[in-house]
Amino acid sequence: MEEPEEFWAEQARQLDWFKTWDSVLQWESPFARWFPGGQLNASYLCVDRHVKTWRRSKVAIYWEGEPGDTRVLSYATLYREVNRFADILKKIGIGKGDRVALYLPMIPELPIFMLACARIGAVHTVIFSGFSAQALADRVNDTQAKLLITADAGFRRGKPLPLKEICDQAVGLTPSVDKVIVVKRAGIPVTMKEGKDLWLHDLLDTAASSVKPEPMESCEPLYILYTSGTTGKPKGIVHGTGGYLVFNYSAYKWVFDIREESVYWCTADVGWVTGHSSIVYAPLAHGAAIVLYEGAPDYPTLDRWWDIIEKYGVTIFYTSPTAIRMFMRYGEEGPERHDLSSLELLGSVGEPINPEAWLWYYQNIGGERCPIVDTWWQTETGGIMISPAPGIECVPLKPGSATFPLPGVDAAVVDEQGKPVADEQRGHLVIRKPWPGMLLGIHGDPHRYERSYWSKFRGMFYTGDYAIRDKDGYYWILGRADEVLKVAGHRMGPAELEDAAISHPALAEAAVVGKADPIKGDNIVVFAILKQGFTPSPELRMELAEHMRRVVGPIATPDEVYFVASLPKTRSGKIMRRVLKAVASDEDIGDLTTLEDEASVEEVRKSYEELKRQL
Ligand code: PRX
Repeated sequence: MEEPEEFWAEQARQLDWFKTWDSVLQWESPFARWFPGGQLNASYLCVDRHVKTWRRSKVAIYWEGEPGDTRVLSYATLYREVNRFADILKKIGIGKGDRVALYLPMIPELPIFMLACARIGAVHTVIFSGFSAQALADRVNDTQAKLLITADAGFRRGKPLPLKEICDQAVGLTPSVDKVIVVKRAGIPVTMKEGKDLWLHDLLDTAASSVKPEPMESCEPLYILYTSGTTGKPKGIVHGTGGYLVFNYSAYKWVFDIREESVYWCTADVGWVTGHSSIVYAPLAHGAAIVLYEGAPDYPTLDRWWDIIEKYGVTIFYTSPTAIRMFMRYGEEGPERHDLSSLELLGSVGEPINPEAWLWYYQNIGGERCPIVDTWWQTETGGIMISPAPGIECVPLKPGSATFPLPGVDAAVVDEQGKPVADEQRGHLVIRKPWPGMLLGIHGDPHRYERSYWSKFRGMFYTGDYAIRDKDGYYWILGRADEVLKVAGHRMGPAELEDAAISHPALAEAAVVGKADPIKGDNIVVFAILKQGFTPSPELRMELAEHMRRVVGPIATPDEVYFVASLPKTRSGKIMRRVLKAVASDEDIGDLTTLEDEASVEEVRKSYEELKRQL
């Protein structure tokens, strides 16, 4: 912490660079440039350097399809495929800096295309395959991607999810998309538009097997990934190349204590940041053997995950608290039926893990043998920031605490004025110094970057989370301080959900808040005002839920819908979400002395009573 630049330079030297950096950090607050002048390539780091060693015959990916089909790719095979895919991209005119949208199921082609983009300097933007046509189109339009890559379908709970069909709807709304590459996964019939849609297997027929990796300046973008904030449309978080890879390479080693013989499985979808950093870039940069699973955790039976652990001898297992709580509800019999003795280390990510779930995980999955790394981080941080780090030092764990910031991460808990709070006091979690994994910015909107992260507290990165540091210095992350929802670990912004609701013809206005759910973190609750001529009914409620599902995707399906005559608002028209939240949760409005919005205590109380009366 005292000499961060020397420290990070030492970490950076563990990667292969085509050219060494001119300096470690150029910090023009709030914009950081890590290792400027340095040149490297992410795909070189993840494949080329391994095939020059004995690892060429090591397993890179154990892939398990939902129907039970499998594929095993060695590093040599992965290298060959990445090169061939990169050649395809080049031949259809994709070059350095071009954006490529990936809308794919969890099949090996997804990481291969990511690495192929990285190889030629194209910027990938992976869009979660659970999003619907409109959500897909919005993201593609923001990046202005020329190429969209999809599959005929992916499998989810035994059914093919028709991704190509969804793309057909989306491309009508995305003028930038010139070509669509389609992977044949499920073998379902699809419509191929002459001159626009191309089958991957046809292109592969003539693909060259060697493409030179493009030397990328350290601060050139590697990818854009969309995530939600409180207001506005989703933000395109841009990550660079050098800093991002250095940070992830180190954090991965510290947190997962990765070894040659490890078999590592992260259950996240590649469509989220966990998939980018903790399935693709960090593990492959280390030459680790990873497991990739296509489908649902409970299909065809509740034992599917435990089967996979046993089958591949998984040693490191990384999942979300929502998944753990779901399995907890189903009982111990599932894991008990399987030999999980290969496991050595467990991980948790995406939401706060409650001590009860932590203990269940520790006892029933880890056999009271495996430490749990509770890893706190965000799309914006690029990699793990606060977590136990058994690769460096073992510390006593406390169930529910992410323990300590990783080396070089200057975290703090501060009050509304940005002053550190006393131990055991709740405050805002901030990061006081730049770190190499930090986002480069928000795609196309430097002001929003500054406003979202660097304006609440001067000179400090605002995470949007509440936290407590206890008297032993352990960090306890308490959840979001802003209005962002965490639905089964997925980050959803109220604005995107409200826009989706309001696009229903019967709605005049809508507000969305999260309500605590014992399994999936937040439930989605919609308060809606109907247009004149429409009357509330159970059918309309269902229709609205279905509509939101159609517009955004299944993760946006509301759990509760209330029709109201008015919404509680401040004088300047800002929706008082805490009032909605309290009413939805059937809780008292609570302590109003620390009111952060502009309404008076009296107004808030009045709106609370008024809303309760309406329901
Ligand atoms: O609220 C925190 C929660 O997830 C948010 C970041 O979401 P996202 O960008 O989607 O990235 C999730 C995966 C890295 C954070 O602001 N969060 C993430 N990990 C934890 C967590 N909350 C508590 N404990 C964690 N370990």
